[in-house]
Amino acid sequence: MVVVLCIVVIAAGAGGAWWHYGHTGAKQPTTTAKTTTQAASTQPPKPSFDKTQYSLTDPNSIWVIVNKKNPLKPKTYVPNDLIFPTVPTRVPGNVSMQMRKVAGTALETMFAGAKKDGINLMLSSGYRPYTFQQVLYNNYVASSGVAAADTFSARPGYSEHQTGLAADIEPLSEKCDVDQCFANLPEGKWLAANAYKYGFVIRYPKGKDSVTGYEYEPWHVRYVGVEAATEMQKEDVVTLETFFGLPPAPTY
Ligand code: DAL
Ligand code: ZN
Repeated sequence: MVVVLCIVVIAAGAGGAWWHYGHTGAKQPTTTAKTTTQAASTQPPKPSFDKTQYSLTDPNSIWVIVNKKNPLKPKTYVPNDLIFPTVPTRVPGNVSMQMRKVAGTALETMFAGAKKDGINLMLSSGYRPYTFQQVLYNNYVASSGVAAADTFSARPGYSEHQTGLAADIEPLSEKCDVDQCFANLPEGKWLAANAYKYGFVIRYPKGKDSVTGYEYEPWHVRYVGVEAATEMQKEDVVTLETFFGLPPAPTY
């Protein structure tokens, strides 16, 4: 229909068969052409991607933004729809092998897709409760100091893992577990190229520390849904902060 309308408008503009001469001799567009032109000009523009369709602050939203400037509210938030995804896991049965249903199901589909491509993945860490993150962070502070710990570990209440929408992925071989060398393995390359098709984004991309607040984590994916992840690809935007027009969050 749009094609037909365009042809009509072009033909009218070209002064061809769609024009006729009235009794005054003045060149007039035909009623049909005029009406069609008006109809074409009132066509609503193609809707752009709606970045307001989900909340960025509700902890239950698949678009909740959690970073150093935006803790979970409340900080002790616990998701109410956690499942154990049916995928290989580093510590079977452990609390951190859970994810929210929507993300865990997407993870299962992603792992199945990877397997078809000869890539075998494992879940290294999914949902982490507030108290779990507290222990983890405090251990890192004890071993590396606060400044260093803050570059790679979130404080309790500030971790995406607590949303149940994030996952650390490693190869089934356990090579480069939670290590940047993961990016150079076939598994890391597959994840970087394909995660968006399943609704996940690499949340802490290389060279974006000043925006996300964290070093490159090629293993850490965050579920945002296929639509948003695909739109980020289309726009060539790699951080959620930039995608949603939020301020960078380099520090607390
Ligand atoms: N490693 C990420 C930033 C976390 O601790 O949630
Ligand atoms: Zn992680």
